[in-house]
Amino acid sequence: MISRVRGTEDILNLHFHNFVLSKVAHHLSRFNFTEIQTPILEQLSLFVRSLGEHTDVVSKEMYTITTESGEQLCLRPEATAPTMRAFIENGIQQIPWKVFSYGPMFRHERPQKGRWRQFSQVNIEIIGSASLAQDVLLISLLDTLFGDAFLLENYILKINFLGTKEDRELHKTGLHAFLTKHEKTLCETCRVRKEKNILRIFDCKNETCQALYRTAPKITDVLSAASRQEWDEMRSMLDLLSINYLHDPLLVRGLDYYNKTVFEFSSSDLGAQNAFCGGGRYDHLSVEIGAKQNYPSMGAALGMGRLLMLVEAVKEKLQVPVQPALNLIIPMEDKQHTIALMLAQHLTTQGHCIDILLEGASMKSMMGKANKMGARHVLIIGHDEQQAGTVTIKNMQTSESKTVKQVQAGDYL
Ligand code: HAM
Repeated sequence: MISRVRGTEDILNLHFHNFVLSKVAHHLSRFNFTEIQTPILEQLSLFVRSLGEHTDVVSKEMYTITTESGEQLCLRPEATAPTMRAFIENGIQQIPWKVFSYGPMFRHERPQKGRWRQFSQVNIEIIGSASLAQDVLLISLLDTLFGDAFLLENYILKINFLGTKEDRELHKTGLHAFLTKHEKTLCETCRVRKEKNILRIFDCKNETCQALYRTAPKITDVLSAASRQEWDEMRSMLDLLSINYLHDPLLVRGLDYYNKTVFEFSSSDLGAQNAFCGGGRYDHLSVEIGAKQNYPSMGAALGMGRLLMLVEAVKEKLQVPVQPALNLIIPMEDKQHTIALMLAQHLTTQGHCIDILLEGASMKSMMGKANKMGARHVLIIGHDEQQAGTVTIKNMQTSESKTVKQVQAGDYL
């Protein structure tokens, strides 16, 4: 038996999944976001240049493919760089470009609850706006999506401010001195990161390193006057909109392209992999991937698998559409198969949900199967019904039976 690839999953019924997804899409369309789609396959260099070669995603988790002609491709690990690529490559003039997309992402991580190697994200971007009010707009629309549309209660929003390149340079100097003082406490990877890409130390999962970093210099303490003003203004906008948040000075978000605002929604109901949505501002990504100018931008992605786990727990409070009631046609013998097919065609055109039981040994076993399938009615066609042009309809809840003309079956149902 060939099994599925580790860290991937088979979703055997998409009904609830599609309900959640359509609610997200509906919410985003109310905020004037348009749905787009970009390819799953991209050039490897798109991510190396944008996410950064020392990030976990690029250094350890990429699914890469080298084609016969030597092209280096990969299965996309995220959708922000592809969305920016699509914006530039298609010469989009509409600014800000407010778009969202949905689809699978691939990261070769260690699989565990809530963490897959293939997982789906709803990715939301506002490309071409420097206004921090956009950051607040996006955070606020996500907060209403989770709190009001999905009625989630147990989640928190963490925010940090990474300032400008100059702010980060200043922060890095202080951080470097701090880490040198505590060099012995650092794990092997953090020692390398300290020299190569120092902010990536915060992505370390080692508890000893994390404990040390809680006492490290904070970026928000070294912001320039202009950055400090922006950070203060953003927080006051969040306060005025009554959005609850927590300032987490250790939040840097694992990808190199961020500046200024970064944020994450997490829930203790999810276990160790508790972040179900994360994002931030990325004002220089377009130039990093080869554009002639910067397009200041902002976005977020929500992990569909993790969101589904949270919404599943409150689904009784939501109006999940019920699936249409099933009506099951049972032809007693092969001779009645054609009539069953014709009746099915007729009834589905009238809008009924129909299935036909074509493989049954005895009436008893077929009725048992109908019960298991949750049929509301069974429509039995045997020799007598075939001769008379009728069908015997049994209501599976009341056990009442009635024989009606085949042409009237739809009205009866
Ligand atoms: P990210 O934090 O890497 O950000 O991923 C966003 C969300 O995707 C996470 O909060 C999590 O819910 C989900 N996720 C990530 N990895 C996995 C995994 N292995 N298994 C299951 N779920 C996962 C980004 O991807 C950025 N592109 C977000 C963004 C958009 N920033 C600006 N615009």
